[in-house]
Amino acid sequence: MIIEPRMRGFICLTAHPKGCEQNVKNQIEYIKSKGAIAGAKKVLVIGASTGFGLASRITSAFGSNASTIGVFFEKPPVEGKTASPGWYNSAAFEKEAHKAGIYAKSINGDAFSNEIKRETLDLIKADLGQIDLVIYSLASPVRVNPTTGVTHRSVLKPIGQTYTNKTVDFHTGKVSEVSIAPADGDDIENTVAVMGGEDWAMWIDALKSENLLAEGATTVAYSYIGPSLTEAVYRKGTIGRAKDHLEATAFTITDSLKSIGGKAYVSVNKALVTQASSAIPVIPLYISLLYKIMKEEGVHEGCIEQIQRLFNDRLYNGSEVPTDDKGRIRIDDWEMRDDIQAKVAKLWLEADTETLPALGDLAGYRNDFLNLFGFEFAGVDYNAEADEVVAIESIK
Ligand code: NAD
Ligand code: NA
Repeated sequence: MIIEPRMRGFICLTAHPKGCEQNVKNQIEYIKSKGAIAGAKKVLVIGASTGFGLASRITSAFGSNASTIGVFFEKPPVEGKTASPGWYNSAAFEKEAHKAGIYAKSINGDAFSNEIKRETLDLIKADLGQIDLVIYSLASPVRVNPTTGVTHRSVLKPIGQTYTNKTVDFHTGKVSEVSIAPADGDDIENTVAVMGGEDWAMWIDALKSENLLAEGATTVAYSYIGPSLTEAVYRKGTIGRAKDHLEATAFTITDSLKSIGGKAYVSVNKALVTQASSAIPVIPLYISLLYKIMKEEGVHEGCIEQIQRLFNDRLYNGSEVPTDDKGRIRIDDWEMRDDIQAKVAKLWLEADTETLPALGDLAGYRNDFLNLFGFEFAGVDYNAEADEVVAIESIK
């Protein structure tokens, strides 16, 4: 069928298989162009199908020739209805990896569940023996705790007082004021339960207890800090509490890995357009201004450039892993540069519906958003019939 973007609110209901394939191929080409990385050889990526997790899988496979197992939760296609983009991304990734003679298998299901953990452990046992890098890159609005059976929903709210600021509807370009009521009830606990470190620790405990982590194994989860502009709704809001918990969990995991000389890191990454971030109020306006400035300064990066730098310059640089005073890896260093933040803060005051098209990079935001779903890629004929039913080679 002919596949076009179909929007509903902040999501796109369709995805283009050829465009997603192009996206994956472009990322692979980028990694190959940067040369080999002396990285891990057996890698488990939890949240491997889109965003930072997909970039981590591609960087491992095509930068270090690593065998990868990818876990994700995506919607398969059915006749007449497209899959979610992560399905097509993973199909394309496996196809390219297998063509290059690189091991790649995938597991589609709820990574928070005991069943999917069991399936993953069994696959590692059968095929790889032990893992030397675990990337934890889940972004989810909901988690069922497998021990208690309780369903937790995360919310994006400030804590203590209502937060009012500008935001943009990036589809229409309309800048307006948004007010977000503060967290109440169990909002904080629930958000921490979904996006904090509990499930990360459960994964590492499960892997370690079955001796599936190699000597010196490393695990990395992704966090965000951002500027004072978004602090009340992000880092000092409910999601920030979850990130605090995730960051604290790195230390408990490192303790638990002492016997094998392993280590857990949190990497603080740059603000980027992903399915997760486009749903957060205020962030799209910030990102469109940030993109404008970072592109002008020649320091703009997407997920793949970020993760290439994380692996090459931080994790596998041949020497000590550089961290901040809280033990975190910082690849948000260019976003957080004083000169860049000062310029964004100035534009923020001036941005309204009339001025934003010139002040900000709304076009870049929209392009990146459509790219998430496989649209707007050069080299893809969007007028041609595309087969929506695409298989992931390792998933039967
Ligand atoms: P994303 O939405 O692109 O990726 C989320 C991944 O998690 C997908 O592979 C999805 O299939 C998987 N997933 C979600 N629920 C699942 C479940 N129940 N079981 C199995 N897989 C599941 O998100 P992203 O932006 O790449 O975020 C990844 C991490 O990076 C998050 O921790 C996020 O907070 C962090 N981060 C994001 C940004 C940003 O600006 N996007 C910046 C810094 C850090
Ligand atoms: Na991800």
